[in-house]
Amino acid sequence: MQAALNIIGEDLTLVEQQFRTDLQSDVPLIRKVGEYVLSSGGKRIRPALLLLSARLCDYAGTQAVPLASVIEFIHTATLLHDDVVDSATLRRGLASANTLWGNEASVLVGDFLFSKSFSLMVNVGSMDILRILSDATTVIAEGEVMQLLCTGEIDLTEQQYIDVIRSKTAILMSAACESGAVLGAVVAEQQRALAEYGMDLGIAFQLMDDILDYTATEEEFGKSIGHDLEEGKITLPLIETLRQCNDEEKSIIATVVEQDEMSLDDFRTVSGIVKQYGGITYTIEAARRHIERCKVHLGLFPVSPVKDALCSLADYVVTRSK
Ligand code: IPE
Ligand code: IPE
Ligand code: MG
Ligand code: MG
Repeated sequence: MQAALNIIGEDLTLVEQQFRTDLQSDVPLIRKVGEYVLSSGGKRIRPALLLLSARLCDYAGTQAVPLASVIEFIHTATLLHDDVVDSATLRRGLASANTLWGNEASVLVGDFLFSKSFSLMVNVGSMDILRILSDATTVIAEGEVMQLLCTGEIDLTEQQYIDVIRSKTAILMSAACESGAVLGAVVAEQQRALAEYGMDLGIAFQLMDDILDYTATEEEFGKSIGHDLEEGKITLPLIETLRQCNDEEKSIIATVVEQDEMSLDDFRTVSGIVKQYGGITYTIEAARRHIERCKVHLGLFPVSPVKDALCSLADYVVTRSK
């Protein structure tokens, strides 16, 4: 992250100011919930991707900062909705918005952020960017619904899982990078390469998120550990384990997945089986392969500090602990 911050640190500060301005509304609850989530210290990886991509494409205009703010708005809206759907109580180390203000307020403020994103996008004035970002938000919604339908599906395949994470997570990172390329008005091939870079990075990002749900500490991760398993989310560490383990272990896992509540003992048992069968290692290897592909996509661009920063950002994704 440091290499990226050295290049776009000032712009990221401007992004923080921009989305405080963009959050203005006459409805106090919107400002309150919005400020709470936006100030709670997200990693800002999506704005960083947009800013770096725009720089890589030699864009020097004024629209990168407002667009980076829009991307974080969209991300924040998805988090507000996602925490309701996932019954999450912890986000960024703090009580989630749904815990503090209830599901209704979270859904409605999420709607506000989504709608506001579209107004802000229109102001940027690029039909291509409007198309990329509106398509992305549609795909995110499809991904979240697909995931809902896969809940508790013990026979979920790796391919089905990858389709879900591509839609719910990777598409927004891809759209952030592609928007930066559109700002820089590069040739179609380079625009496609940056979109692919974002897609592979996003897949690796979600693979790591799903690993951290098994391996992280709550203090560092800022989210509840074991929550995916408790919610019946079948992620790649578990899919690989289910492919390798015996029938008895499979039935232990199935029972925990089906239960509404999960005890610490249940979690320890299942994560023990996951580690024993290499579910974590398998998933890290998959994430690393996507990160290697990120670097291949950047091959179309000449060597530069910005390109190095995008490579470092890719490496950071597979080493992150929060
Ligand atoms: C969380 O995204 C949602 C996922 C796609 C896993 P981030 O991990 O980027 O969330 P913040 O913004 O840094 O909190
Ligand atoms: C997040 O997926 C995807 C979106 C927010 C659209 P997760 O449900 O895995 O993300 P966390 O773990 O809640 O951050
Ligand atoms: Mg979630
Ligand atoms: Mg998660």
